[in-house]
Amino acid sequence: MRVLHWGMSNNYYTYQQALEGKAGAHMPFNGETVSVLSAYDYLGLIGHPKIEEASIEAIRQYGTSTGGVRLLTGTNELHLESERKIAAFKGTEAALTFSSGYLTNVAVITALFGKDDLVLADQFIHRSLTDGLLLAQVPFKHFKHNDAEHLEHLLQQHRDSFRRILILVEGTYSMDGDNCPLPEIIELKKKHECFLMIDESHSFGVLGKNGRGVDEYYGVNPNDVSLYTASLSKTIPSNGGFVAGSKELIYYLQHGANSSIFSAALAPAATAATSAALEVIQDERWRLNQLEKNIAYFKTGLKNLGYTIREPSGHIVPLMLGSDEKAYALSSAMLEKGFLVSPIVHPAVSKGKARLRLCVSANYTKELMDQSLAAFAKLSPRFSNDSVELPKQNIRPKAS
Ligand SMILES: Cc1ncc(COP(=O)(O)O)c(C=O)c1O
Repeated sequence: MRVLHWGMSNNYYTYQQALEGKAGAHMPFNGETVSVLSAYDYLGLIGHPKIEEASIEAIRQYGTSTGGVRLLTGTNELHLESERKIAAFKGTEAALTFSSGYLTNVAVITALFGKDDLVLADQFIHRSLTDGLLLAQVPFKHFKHNDAEHLEHLLQQHRDSFRRILILVEGTYSMDGDNCPLPEIIELKKKHECFLMIDESHSFGVLGKNGRGVDEYYGVNPNDVSLYTASLSKTIPSNGGFVAGSKELIYYLQHGANSSIFSAALAPAATAATSAALEVIQDERWRLNQLEKNIAYFKTGLKNLGYTIREPSGHIVPLMLGSDEKAYALSSAMLEKGFLVSPIVHPAVSKGKARLRLCVSANYTKELMDQSLAAFAKLSPRFSNDSVELPKQNIRPKAS
């Protein structure tokens, strides 16, 4: 396999490989084929004909760009339709889309919270949420990952000193693959009269009986959460992000969120893809069932080979390796065998907690999973046991 090493001083660099087709199994790559095992395509919707057709039709009718920001000339009927559909799917009154999930989080936090408030955030929240907190200049503290007791302790310590407190969590954590303990968090939110915001980038469309998200997974009332955000580039095979909540909140954000007012509206093709994908998710419920089966099969296979899988986890499977060097080396060795898997290293995760992040998809066939498990099996003597340390490699780019 010819791999692009980007002038790195060793052959472990597997980032930025230029793929030549739709992310998935057996796609063209440098004259050979590669199977992507780390795409966020949990329900296998990239390349779905109905979604592609909706995007193509949107380009024909609306063109390739909106030519403006939402507040001015950038809003079209496709945006309103997708927002109605997102709100209906989430069970909220309204929703608003932005041009990325990152911008959604930054926009929402900076528009709603400031110096006089306090945010209590899970220690593993995504960088986009942290950047929102920094830009908003809102004081914030971390509670230990998924530790409701620690959160309660912080609430008892600080509740009386702040008029407004926001609890900030993710539905499914992007690097660890576990879900937030939502029922306990809602209880604390009510008891201490706080706001609760959940980033559902990795749970929207894929968690719960109908894929509605982490609230459906736990069977709680969606309106017990003050607001939801999510990227539209994970289960939904598009681009963009959304915030969902009350009509009042959305009206406020339409006029107060900088990334909506000062950044162009989502392109027609992306917006139409979101609406179509929401229909497909509801029409093709077998995808959620198939995903569950694939998760069980794939994780069992990896564990049987002696790999350490972080638990609890679901459609995101963190294959724990420890050192950054091991993560780079296993990713590189898998790419040589035709499988693209992302190494996740510091600062995306804590030092010493490097991993490969595998994403299971409803589209994975048994054949594909068996082929990739066979590749992992060949490498397991070097990588399945944490006590085997690799020689230190210089992983920084060569000075030019
Ligand atoms: C939890 C979480 N939030 C937000 C984002 C940003 O989404 P987008 O890629 O649409 O900007 C991501 C993307 O990786 C994410 O994992």
